[in-house]
Amino acid sequence: MSYRLTVIGTGYLGATHAACMADLGFEVLGLDVDEERIARLAAGDLPFFEPGLEPVLRRGLESGRLRFTSSYKEAAEFGDVHFLCVGTPQKAGEYAADLTYVDDAINSLAPLLERPCVVVGKSTVPVGTAERLADTMARIAPVGADAVLAWNPEFLREGFAVQDTLHPDRIVAGLPDDRHAAEHAEKVLREIYRSMIAHGTPFITCDYPTAELVKVSANAFLATKISFINAMAEVCEAAHADVTKLSEALSYDDRIGGKFLGPGLGFGGGCLPKDIRAFMARAGELGADQALTFLREVDEINIRRRIRMVDLARQMLGGSFDGRTVGVLGAAFKPNSDDVRDSPALDVAASIRAQGAAVTVYDPQAMGNARRAQPSLEYGESALSAARGAHVVLLLTEWAEFRGMDPDSLASVVAERNIVDGRNALDPEKWRAAGWTYRALGRP
Ligand code: UDX
Repeated sequence: MSYRLTVIGTGYLGATHAACMADLGFEVLGLDVDEERIARLAAGDLPFFEPGLEPVLRRGLESGRLRFTSSYKEAAEFGDVHFLCVGTPQKAGEYAADLTYVDDAINSLAPLLERPCVVVGKSTVPVGTAERLADTMARIAPVGADAVLAWNPEFLREGFAVQDTLHPDRIVAGLPDDRHAAEHAEKVLREIYRSMIAHGTPFITCDYPTAELVKVSANAFLATKISFINAMAEVCEAAHADVTKLSEALSYDDRIGGKFLGPGLGFGGGCLPKDIRAFMARAGELGADQALTFLREVDEINIRRRIRMVDLARQMLGGSFDGRTVGVLGAAFKPNSDDVRDSPALDVAASIRAQGAAVTVYDPQAMGNARRAQPSLEYGESALSAARGAHVVLLLTEWAEFRGMDPDSLASVVAERNIVDGRNALDPEKWRAAGWTYRALGRP
């Protein structure tokens, strides 16, 4: 049987999931309370930058299998399976996750559920949330126990969202304790992900709390790996060693591996920083805070990289930013994204500006979002224009365009040939040979 799917919440996760499920042949209805977002998606216009997603979205719309709405009533009547993909940002002034959007979605959908269905949570939530939502659903859904909740966390990376959705590393299904309900939800999920399972993707079933924890512990591990190598970078700086060589040498040990061992300005974005903080907050509520105190250190190492970057730039200018000009390459939290949420690059640019320098930023995709987030910075329309007249240039997001820059062309526009490579993305020999003073985090 081919199920009809709804996707509630059409941000990075939801828009990608909806378009990809339509591509797999399902009829999909995407829902968002943001009418403007819905109108853009329905017109085939992606509201954010994600390589390769727009053609999939358009294909879905043209096939007639993908539609969008802002009506929960329409979604409730349409869907056999409802995917919950709303955001869970960090609460203002607290570490904990803000579950308003998740609660709003369930409180809007559940009272309208009059036919049997499976609601599948994909949002990243604090452990214990699924159990609570299942209780709410059982209480307020007219169809009662025939609306079953499953938890199926999503691991997609921005910049690789389509690839990660269609070819995931694993599928995790958190199922209810009731055996009959669990078997039903598992059968439905196996059917939806049939093509991936057929290609060998592991399908892991577990209870709700384990499924919720898989997601946050995966992100905690990745954040820890990045902060580990960045802590080594701090030691390398003190010992005049080279963290890029160290990282390369470590990577050949299969038990360690080279992924997420890239030293530099550290992690940002809409997931890693807020997920480790929400994880600490939740562990505290559960009385298990000691287990995660190391994540506080992971967070602090990460933030220290930004401070060190600012210090290094100041040092290259002889100790003060006053009256100096700084060119910043990169605003997105990582390449191939226009996302500036908790972006290390933008954070560094803003704090240098606050210390008195004139800062001009360029990013290949994130200019609109960066301008909205940091209106007091100057913006250039190319790397060369951001670097024009600069006393120091900072490479803060490792876009391919910046990795491939020609040191001589950049030299022709700057005031002084000073560059700080915040992502260890350039070849120091090449830049030094072209007359630049090259500095990087964790390297002599
Ligand atoms: C992350 C997880 O990878 C994904 O599985 C989860 O679902 C959501 O969070 P994303 O936020 O898209 O995905 O970014 P990711 O590619 O993980 O990068 C996170 C940050 O770490 C970026 O700021 C990146 O620049 C930084 N990073 C990554 C490093 O500093 N060094 C590395 O070696 C790798």
